Amino acid sequence: MSKIENNKITELVEAAKDGFAKAYAPYSNFHVGAAALTASGNVVKGCNVENASYGLTVCAERNCLAQGVIAGEQEFSAIVIYTNQEKLTPPCGACRQVIAEFLAPDALVKAVNHNNDTKEWTVSELLPDAFTPKDLLER
Ligand code: THU
Repeated sequence: MSKIENNKITELVEAAKDGFAKAYAPYSNFHVGAAALTASGNVVKGCNVENASYGLTVCAERNCLAQGVIAGEQEFSAIVIYTNQEKLTPPCGACRQVIAEFLAPDALVKAVNHNNDTKEWTVSELLPDAFTPKDLLER
């Protein structure tokens, strides 16, 4: 797993908590915040944004990475997911695919909750043999 400095992890957790506080989740009431570290050392964040047409909901992780792209960043070295659930929240399948688009296979994915419990994975543990931009090279 690629190593991230502790102070950066702290920064990511704080940003993910801030995203959590801004979640728009009136239907599930399941609030999620996410924060990612960009290759240039910046932190971007996101929250889940639900919709009355339930299927249009977008998860915190995907909104977070999109915020990074909008800020001009397309490489990320870690992503933190924050919830207030006793059971730590892993990224959903759709988010795993989007995480694999922008983070290296050995990059850190870390779940944190209100008790400060944590769980860590690499991107490839969450999505082995991912279909990525490299698979399109021989178009
Ligand atoms: N959700 C996320 O934002 N990230 C995850 O990793 C899991 C699920 C959101 C989607 C929906 O708004 C709510 O949590 C319940 O599924």
